[in-house]
Amino acid sequence: MQIKRTTSPADFKQCALMMSKSEPWITLRRTFADSLKNLQDPLKEVYTAVENEKIIAFMILQMVGTFKGYVQSIYVEPGHRSSGIGTVMMRFAEERIFKETPNVFICVSSFNKKARKLYRKLRYTKVGELKDFVVNGHSEILLRKTLGPLSKFHKKPSEICQGDEQSKSSSRREI
Ligand SMILES: CC(C)(COP(=O)(O)OP(=O)(O)OC[C@H]1O[C@@H](n2cnc3c(N)ncnc32)[C@H](O)[C@@H]1OP(=O)(O)O)[C@@H](O)C(=O)NCCC(=O)NCCS
Repeated sequence: MQIKRTTSPADFKQCALMMSKSEPWITLRRTFADSLKNLQDPLKEVYTAVENEKIIAFMILQMVGTFKGYVQSIYVEPGHRSSGIGTVMMRFAEERIFKETPNVFICVSSFNKKARKLYRKLRYTKVGELKDFVVNGHSEILLRKTLGPLSKFHKKPSEICQGDEQSKSSSRREI
């Protein structure tokens, strides 16, 4: 399996289709068009996990704004779940994010038991609960994993250059 960043319109369409047929997005009433718009947003980074030239998982990261380091969506194809791919994708996201900022944020729907269990296992802690945030009757739970306060997370100029190189090389990975 290879994880790589994509900006391909065909990949975006395929990912949007996968999301539109899957929970939690069905319950959250997120349409194909909504997901496609999100994937196409130039402020997002989309990473796919590819096996035998097929996308078997993907995630969307947001590296700007107050919640810089936000894992906006993560998806593993149903036939490939429960074999560690979600964990590998999350570890990849953490490695990418922690190069630039000391926090990883993720929102999980209150009804998404499997995802909540995974994030607990990866030591994410609850920051707050957004009641009736996307749809009535369900909350979005904001989680965080942190290396420490922003004020202590300083990068030296040499580390910034090094980090940029690492960031380029980490945008493609053989697993
Ligand atoms: C949530 C999601 C991304 C998790 O992906 P995944 O690939 O199934 O995650 P993992 O395989 O790493 O971990 C899930 C389970 O598999 C188990 N597992 C991991 N590696 C394993 C292995 N080699 N053999 C057997 N089981 C394994 C984990 O222990 C975990 O078990 P648990 O649920 O009993 O704790 C996936 O279920 C998904 O795409 N769901 C739909 C979309 C979604 O909900 N996204 C999250 C939105 S916030």
